[in-house]
Amino acid sequence: MFARSVVRSAARRSFRPIAAQTPVFRAGFRSSVAVRDPETVNEKAINVVSYVDGERAQESIPVTSSQEPVTPPGQDETRPAVPLSPALASQLTPTLAKFTLVGKTAMVTGDFSGGRGLGYNMAQALAEVGIKGIAIMDVQQELGDKSARELSEQTGVDVRFYRLDVRDGDAIQHAVQDIVQHYGSLDVVINAAGIADSNVKAETYDAEKFRRLLDINITGSFLVSQAAAQAMIKAKSGGSIINIASMSGSIVNYPQEQSAYNASKAAVIQLTKSLAAEWARYGIRVNAISPGYMDTALNRVPALDAQKRIWVDQTPQKRLGSVDDLNNLAVYLSSDGSSFMTGSNNIIDGGYTLW
Ligand SMILES: NC(=O)c1ccc[n+]([C@@H]2O[C@H](COP(=O)([O-])OP(=O)(O)OC[C@H]3O[C@@H](n4cnc5c(N)ncnc54)[C@H](O)[C@@H]3O)[C@@H](O)[C@H]2O)c1
Repeated sequence: MFARSVVRSAARRSFRPIAAQTPVFRAGFRSSVAVRDPETVNEKAINVVSYVDGERAQESIPVTSSQEPVTPPGQDETRPAVPLSPALASQLTPTLAKFTLVGKTAMVTGDFSGGRGLGYNMAQALAEVGIKGIAIMDVQQELGDKSARELSEQTGVDVRFYRLDVRDGDAIQHAVQDIVQHYGSLDVVINAAGIADSNVKAETYDAEKFRRLLDINITGSFLVSQAAAQAMIKAKSGGSIINIASMSGSIVNYPQEQSAYNASKAAVIQLTKSLAAEWARYGIRVNAISPGYMDTALNRVPALDAQKRIWVDQTPQKRLGSVDDLNNLAVYLSSDGSSFMTGSNNIIDGGYTLW
């Protein structure tokens, strides 16, 4: 009791409000101690001590009670990717350099709903951190072709498009062999191919449709991961596999019924963990990204408008995810920045699953 009051009065003495001419913030180390009793939650000012080049400065920040939203609305259209120049790459700090993929190659499935797909955006992000080659795979010939051309024009990256169905194990095997032969390696895989089926009641769900959805979302992710891992194991190169699951693998969406989709994404999360455990010995990491509601082509359907309002309302950040909101997490999981991370399920949903 005694020690506590001594500490508190010492804090009051050393953090008295300071004069208006105190230097403003500059970049550098900063520590902050609030002036308040432990019971007080509404302080009027926070005193801050900052260090720049070892020089100490102190100032006071007034605390306001603004109710303004802090999250800007999602961006509407995708922007062209910008390549990482070798000159810039050579100047990065060790921490930033770990986030790059210089000299590496990737395979991304299910990319390309006219640039509004998550796969395309993540492929752009990989191209922006120095990757040398990207193989994209999708069932849609025209869109895949277009995306490959655009990605290559934007960044100079060597992009190849393989038109295939992720349920076709033989086609995937051949594509992976071709990728390894062409690029010399395969380092990163992003499994984004998938379909959704919502507003279908479980009691009348057509069995064939149910099987098809699971086949694409779960068997497809498995077959692509398996073929890639075989190549990585053979090359003794290790690698990073990222499965795009969904928050629907952990919660049940509302108000739409979508039992097959939810079950498929729960399976993707558990597949991720199983493969991570099995393949850690080969230096292959397997992680999942579980997005919440994203503003992609998949969700840009007029029939979903009313539901979208409910989704936004139930998301603490009060918006859908932008199409590029997964990009930095995908880069992190692809890169050596996450080298001790495997088998993790990373929910990125604006807080939806908190409520
Ligand atoms: N959009 C969202 O709100 C959201 C939320 C959570 C998870 N996801 C997941 O993210 C991934 C990408 O979603 P998106 O919104 O970009 O969807 P999208 O429809 O834009 O992209 C999916 C792509 O997968 C391709 N595809 C479908 N079946 C295929 C098959 N059998 N073989 C090969 N390619 C096939 C499609 O042609 C399409 O280009 C999906 O796995 C989806 O379930 C999306």
